[in-house]
Amino acid sequence: MSTQAVADIAVIGLAVMGQNLILNMNDNNFVVCAYNRTVSKVDDFLANEAKGTNIVGAHSIEEMCKKLKRPRKVMLMVKAGSAVDAFIEQILPYLEEGDIIIDGGNSHFPDTIRRTKELEAKGLYYVGAGVSGGEEGARYGPSIMPGGSIQAWEHVKPIFQAISAKVDGEPCCDWVGGTGAGHYVKMVHNGIEYGDMQLICEAYQILRDGLGLDHDEIGDIFDEWNKSELDSYLVEITRDIMKFKDTDGTALVAKIRDTAGQKGTGKWTAVSALDNGMPVTLIGEAVFARCLSALKDERLRASKILDGPKDVKFTGDKKEFVKQLGHALYASKIISYAQGFMLLREAAKENQWELNYGGIALMWRGGCIIRSVFLGDIRNAYQSDPKLESLLFDPFFQKALSRTHQDWRVVISQAVLLGIPTPAISTALAFYDGYRTGYLPANLLQAQRDYFGAHTYELLDKPGTYVHTNWTGKGGNVSSSTYIV
Ligand code: 2AM
Repeated sequence: MSTQAVADIAVIGLAVMGQNLILNMNDNNFVVCAYNRTVSKVDDFLANEAKGTNIVGAHSIEEMCKKLKRPRKVMLMVKAGSAVDAFIEQILPYLEEGDIIIDGGNSHFPDTIRRTKELEAKGLYYVGAGVSGGEEGARYGPSIMPGGSIQAWEHVKPIFQAISAKVDGEPCCDWVGGTGAGHYVKMVHNGIEYGDMQLICEAYQILRDGLGLDHDEIGDIFDEWNKSELDSYLVEITRDIMKFKDTDGTALVAKIRDTAGQKGTGKWTAVSALDNGMPVTLIGEAVFARCLSALKDERLRASKILDGPKDVKFTGDKKEFVKQLGHALYASKIISYAQGFMLLREAAKENQWELNYGGIALMWRGGCIIRSVFLGDIRNAYQSDPKLESLLFDPFFQKALSRTHQDWRVVISQAVLLGIPTPAISTALAFYDGYRTGYLPANLLQAQRDYFGAHTYELLDKPGTYVHTNWTGKGGNVSSSTYIV
């Protein structure tokens, strides 16, 4: 193999995402150098999938770096965690000032923040890029969310924007923000994905167990929903899953054990929400719903002894109820995205990122798993007001909730009476009702805290004035400390 500097970028990691990204880059006329820890995979790739393309390979990190045009761009598509650090260590000796390392894996954002700082201190640039869209997205157009060293952007932009998905000609890839912002936004994307999936599963259970519909009928409902404001990739694949038959002619989905797996990005989002004090309740419930599903054996035992509604059948107008359920899904989804963007706003403050919220909505509009028509409306909301405090203050979403919230309440009441759990749909409504309440019962909470712990409370008509009351006549008049929640 020659070692001339011929390649525009190197990609390390020849699992399916890495391979497909390379092929996508090649389709877009970039010369890619492929490398993998298990070097035999490089030759396999060149002899098979990459045969007849302009893709080149390398059998060592040194050879790979020699084949790169400057500034060198090395993209890691390897397992998140220690593999990323190990490769950075190995590549470093062959890089020079101004070269760029990109991590396209699902790294946890604190790791990306650390790596960016370490590499910038060495005169190199680092980009943490979230890549979403699964195998097919990687091959034909993913959503790419890059952040980190801004100096790197002009060099990676032509490649990333060329290979990304497009919506109305606009690439689903733009600069997200500073150190760690790309992987943070990707993490929140995944959290929202957990929420969307849970909402759909709750609707499925209501249709299956509450209305007693079969999978074909449910598939037809998802097909209808996919032509409405719920038009999205996840609703579309749910329709197809409902209709998918096993070899015996029955729905395959009905044979799948009801225990959900998870890889952690939803949990990271929920933990970050707690760390930032943001009520991202729907994603939290979605993560817990997966945890509950995993307790299959315990649930089976409980199902035999714990009481619930008996012989309660849905007796209303099914067609009307399905329409109401569609509205409940839509309203819940608005809340979930509003919560996700609240978290982004808080994290941006915390990390001094200048996030472009409309740009993020556009990046999610196509290519990725949560892609939907709905994200176009979110983009419009942020385009008309980039400083929008909350999506719920946008007139479009305000009206959408005003139009759907009664149906949302009917659906939840029905589900409760039928004994069907709707953690995500219900928590979304609880958030909505809490958010639009000017006077919550936290006055009592503050009184309780002051009663037992002398934590003091703030006076409603004198903001900033904290007082302690000796509620029992026994506790004394000394407050513990001013504790502002
Ligand atoms: P491999 O083919 O040599 O296993 C997805 O697993 C990708 O990450 C693969 O390219 C895999 O390389 C790589 N990978 C996984 N763990 C790794 C590690 N600890 N060090 C280097 N590469 C790793």
